[in-house]
Amino acid sequence: MLISSAHRLSIFTTFVLFSLYSLNFTPSAAYGRSNPNGNITSKWDVVQWTPDGYVAVVTIYNFQHNRRIQAPGWRLGWTWAKKEVIWNVVGAKATRQGDCSRFKRNIPHSCSKNPTIIDLKPDAPYNQRIANCCRGGVLSSWFGYRPHSVSAFQISVGNAGTTNRTVRMPKKFTFDAPGAVYTCGPSKIIRPTIFITADRRRMTQALMTWNVTCLYSGVKRFT
Ligand SMILES: *[C@@H]1O[C@H](CO)[C@@H](O)[C@H](O)[C@H]1NC(C)=O
Ligand SMILES: *[C@@H]1O[C@H](CO)[C@@H](O)[C@H](O)[C@H]1NC(C)=O
Ligand SMILES: *[C@@H]1O[C@H](CO)[C@@H](O)[C@H](O)[C@H]1NC(C)=O
Repeated sequence: MLISSAHRLSIFTTFVLFSLYSLNFTPSAAYGRSNPNGNITSKWDVVQWTPDGYVAVVTIYNFQHNRRIQAPGWRLGWTWAKKEVIWNVVGAKATRQGDCSRFKRNIPHSCSKNPTIIDLKPDAPYNQRIANCCRGGVLSSWFGYRPHSVSAFQISVGNAGTTNRTVRMPKKFTFDAPGAVYTCGPSKIIRPTIFITADRRRMTQALMTWNVTCLYSGVKRFT
């Protein structure tokens, strides 16, 4: 069975149930060795192609059995494959706008080649939220309070590929958390996520899905 558990997500005004076939603990050696204490996986579901790019829902799973992510929370970074920009983020924000001087009228949220995304705080306005956002980047462990071991945001990417053949996945992912160092593997295209509509009468699927896994690699040293 593909669908083993579900999370609620809002995409624009539509609510969908977001099903995770991936939670059935299949062992995998996809990125180096599989870590017995779990990992952090970020999954990108492209939910819409746009005239100059795509909209994706990015979901971060803390699969680490007993390690939580403390305040001030996770920071997810990457390097764009080309000259992509972030038009908009819902449920999170980029820490730097970067150089958007080539844009005259509509100014992107971030033009940085290496954006870093952080979660919003719990007091974020309703229209800037999606399900599983806005906990200040704090994540419970997988064996802790499970509903809070997941974080999500929606990102609109421009100046990007507009089909599953032309889109380029971001590279060199980084995951940063207070006091800990993580090492991320390469992103991989995986089977598109299946979503179930709120009335449970229709299944849709992501247009394209990729994920990236990051492993805890030690205590952060301050120099
Ligand atoms: C991410 O992809 C890897 C490799 O295909 C897979 O082993 C893993 O279960 C996936 N994780 C999620 C959360 O989709
Ligand atoms: C990360 O953890 C998930 C859940 O335990 C597992 O399905 C996946 O295979 C792991 N990924 C890697 C690369 O070890
Ligand atoms: C790309 O989309 C086509 C149909 O539009 C589909 O057949 C193909 O499997 C998709 N490829 C990927 C990598 O998702």
